[in-house]
Amino acid sequence: MKWASHVLAILLFINEICRSCSLTNLRLTVPRAVRVGHSVTLQCDYDLEEAPLYSVKWYRNSDEFYRYVPKEAPPTRVFPLPGLHVDVSVSNARKVTLLSVGRPLSGLFQCEVSADAPLFHTEMKSAPMTVAVVPDGVPAVTVDRAGLERGGPLIAECKAPPASPAPNLTWYVNDQRVPGSTSASIIKDSELLDTANSRLELTGVGGSWGAIRLRCEATQFRLYRANSVEVEVKPDTPQPASVLLMGRSLNGSSTLINSSLITCFFTILVHVEQFW
Ligand SMILES: *[C@@H]1O[C@H](CO)[C@@H](O)[C@H](O)[C@H]1NC(C)=O
Ligand SMILES: *[C@@H]1O[C@H](CO)[C@@H](O)[C@H](O)[C@H]1NC(C)=O
Ligand SMILES: *[C@@H]1O[C@H](CO)[C@@H](O)[C@H](O)[C@H]1NC(C)=O
Repeated sequence: MKWASHVLAILLFINEICRSCSLTNLRLTVPRAVRVGHSVTLQCDYDLEEAPLYSVKWYRNSDEFYRYVPKEAPPTRVFPLPGLHVDVSVSNARKVTLLSVGRPLSGLFQCEVSADAPLFHTEMKSAPMTVAVVPDGVPAVTVDRAGLERGGPLIAECKAPPASPAPNLTWYVNDQRVPGSTSASIIKDSELLDTANSRLELTGVGGSWGAIRLRCEATQFRLYRANSVEVEVKPDTPQPASVLLMGRSLNGSSTLINSSLITCFFTILVHVEQFW
């Protein structure tokens, strides 16, 4: 009992003299995505105030791959992981550079910093990083014109070049974004690349409405953004006044999109009807 109170007194004392010996403000900078085969520098910044640094450890999904301990010689240690090559010459206590990153490296990256004795204060932060295969080319839009001539709905398909992960697809009708149309069905190929497909269905696009311009945009994080060629559709057959916008969700079920676009089409329709 007596020694316990002594220990407590010592700890309080250390805490008092070491009020500013703390590790604060850990900032982790990891890009959300990086192209396969490229290099990337991950940054881990912190304020140590008066505490000495004990160690900096880097993990990918809980596997340690890099450690910096200034007291050790050499201070740097690298642990092997598939798809990982640390450039030790440009890595230090605040950053680690990975060369020619491979796809298996995608995951959660964590930096853990510990201050030295007496408090061994430890802080950590993590962020996801995806090693991406960027699409080669632009998305393509095809329209089922035969179906439209038979008086059917306007059905268009957008297909993006193979990539990993699949890019997000967004439809634009007369330059207006179609909300909720980003979902797509995805097909995996032999190289484990994903091909994104999205289907747009417009019914009631009567002849009196004039031409409709369709375009599809594919985006992959901040690495890739490309538009399809704009397709103009001029429906010949006037249609009744029902407007329905369909997008296909990831699990194959259709979703009805309630959008400003519908209001817009209705407005145009009402407008036209008042004229005739
Ligand atoms: C697709 O969009 C979602 C939602 O905005 C985003 O979280 C995700 O990272 C995007 N995926 C790609 C491959 O850009
Ligand atoms: C699948 O479809 C159902 C019904 O439309 C929806 O509630 C659910 O969120 C969808 N799941 C995914 C993963 O898209
Ligand atoms: C569609 O949008 C309108 C107004 O934005 C809202 O009042 C209505 O409840 C929505 N309908 C559905 C089915 O979400």
